[in-house]
Amino acid sequence: MKLTLILVFLFLGLQQKIPWNSPKEADNIQNPLKSDPVNIKAGNDLYTKYCLMCHGAKGKGDGPAGVSLVPHPGNLLSSRIAQSTDGSLYWKIKQGKAPMPAYVITDTQRWSLVNYIRELQKVNGISK
Ligand code: HEC
Repeated sequence: MKLTLILVFLFLGLQQKIPWNSPKEADNIQNPLKSDPVNIKAGNDLYTKYCLMCHGAKGKGDGPAGVSLVPHPGNLLSSRIAQSTDGSLYWKIKQGKAPMPAYVITDTQRWSLVNYIRELQKVNGISK
C-alpha cells in the first residue's frame, strides 16, 4: 500500500517535470496568418472561451481549472514557449494532451490562437 502511494507520487512528480515536446516536423509548419488586430481579437475571444479556464487570463497557468492540474498547464509566457516555433504551438493546440482537450476548431482558429499567445508574450515583454 505504502509502496503504491510512493509510486503514484513519483509518477505524478515526474509527469510534472517532463516538458511537452512537439515532433521536429511541427517546426516546419508555417503560420499562414499574419498577426493583425482582427485575428488577435478572434484569438482573444477563442482563448477566453476555450483556454482561459486552465491557462489563466495572462497565460500563466493560473486559471480556475488549471491551478491544481497534474500535469500543470505551465506558463505560456515562459522563455521555452516564447522560443518555440509557431508550428510547434499550432501542433500542440491541434493535438491536445490529457487533460488538455484537442478542440475541434478550424485551422484558422488555431493560428489565431497562436497569434494571440504571441501577443500575450509581447505585451508582457517576452519575445523570441
Ligand atoms: C483542461 C485544461 C486545459 C485547457 C482547457 C487547455 N489547456 Fe493547454 N494545457 C493544459 C495542460 C495541463 C498542459 C500541459 C501539458 C503537459 O505539459 O504535459 C497544456 C499545455 C498547453 C500548451 C503547451 C505548453 C508547453 O509546455 O509546451 C499550449 C501551447 C497550450 N496548452 C495551449 C492551449 C490553448 C490555446 C488552449 C485553448 C484552445 C488550451 N491550451 C486549453 C491544460 C489545458
